[in-house]
Amino acid sequence: MENKNEAMEKITSLAKRRGFIFPGSEIYGGLAGTYDYGPLGVRLKENIERLWLTMFRDDRSDMYGVDATILMNSKLWEASGHVSGFSDPLVECQKCHHRFRADQLEDEKKCPDCGGGFGEVKQFNMMFKTHAGSVEDDSSAVYLRPETAGGIFSNFKNVMDSMHPKIPFGIAQIGKAFRNEIAPRDFIFRLREFSQMEVEYFVKPSEWESAFEEWRLLMHRFAERIGISKNSLHELEVADSDRAHYSNRTIDFEFDYPSGRGELWGLAYRGDFDLSAHQEASGTTLTYLDEETKEKFIPHVIEPSLGVDRTLLAVLLSAYREDSLGDGRVYLAFPPSIAPIKAVVSPLLKNKPELVAKAREVFQALKTVVPQIAWDDNGNIGKRYRRQDEVGTPWCITIDFDTLGETKELLDTVTLRSRDSGEQERLSISDAIQKVYTSINHGA
Ligand code: GAP
Repeated sequence: MENKNEAMEKITSLAKRRGFIFPGSEIYGGLAGTYDYGPLGVRLKENIERLWLTMFRDDRSDMYGVDATILMNSKLWEASGHVSGFSDPLVECQKCHHRFRADQLEDEKKCPDCGGGFGEVKQFNMMFKTHAGSVEDDSSAVYLRPETAGGIFSNFKNVMDSMHPKIPFGIAQIGKAFRNEIAPRDFIFRLREFSQMEVEYFVKPSEWESAFEEWRLLMHRFAERIGISKNSLHELEVADSDRAHYSNRTIDFEFDYPSGRGELWGLAYRGDFDLSAHQEASGTTLTYLDEETKEKFIPHVIEPSLGVDRTLLAVLLSAYREDSLGDGRVYLAFPPSIAPIKAVVSPLLKNKPELVAKAREVFQALKTVVPQIAWDDNGNIGKRYRRQDEVGTPWCITIDFDTLGETKELLDTVTLRSRDSGEQERLSISDAIQKVYTSINHGA
């Protein structure tokens, strides 16, 4: 897509118009940094999360899941360094009082909104603070978690004691995280409420490099499976001075967004920073006993951390296509496994009961093997195809008079139309169902 604003505007508008993503609290004028997922967005998000769970947790024998709370004891965020250090540099314009992230102003010395001068740079802590219970004082202060990792570290001992894993092993979690970003921007790129898919993988200190490499490769495989091309994904070795306080090594996976290259995911080697800090602050032993060597040690941690919303944005941008089919069309070339609707079933005409009845039969048969399908009998067939193209439905199945036997040899056959090529083929009902099923389950 050519112009950077135009590209983002097209995606934002399509996402809203077709039920993927809506501005948060829209009827009240919105709330900056919040977006809601609509019917198709929820499906797409869940399909991405499900694939992540399969690849990062369930396909492996060394991974466990947790689902921890968003509100946690504040001592955890003190120990992790977030209370003292999870901040961005903030500057305020002395004239219009708009606030900016100082590190994102590049060399601008004047306010981009009114040309006023800036005050001094202050550190602004990004955690949302609230109070648990009816008393609002420092003793009841709690934070909305700024990363899901905290709930994994706090359950390290519970998972060890209940599941007795052998090192290396990891804990995976998907959940909400909250950051009071100074300048939320670029649709769902920088939000104040978002979701993360995180793994904390516990290793012997001497084995961190091979584990880091293993997760790095898995992140590339995941990118491929969700339709993010190799060309648009770049690794950035984060310099010592730019790394988070807990990290000994970080690779940022960057994506070519319309506004330029930006962070998509992170892969960090957190050493023993977290478990050591939590052991010291909580007074709970967080060591691992190696049964063979009888050695006790604090495991080191590799952390692949993937933002769900940024992933979904990269998926939408990667899938967006315009071509000259018919009188020009827009379509989303989602990999079938994550498409929100896998196939749509249509009777050629909706006022012919015999066509509708047969189409319903095909719909039911397909739905038993492919649950995420839709029914469409609205408007002419060309319009239906356009509508399905725009939401990325890989297959359209049409039931016509030949299906009913008007041409004898075509009895019980349907038209199967492919989203990407626009081509149609005549197949038996069972072959069409098989083709749809196979494309979803084997990544075609
Ligand atoms: N536990 C490590 C951690 O949270 P991070 O780099 O701060 O590391 C990980 O965040 C990922 O979470 C990012 O790569 C990005 O995908 C996502 N993310 C972070 N801040 C975000 C925000 N304000 N809006 C949307 N996604 C965000």
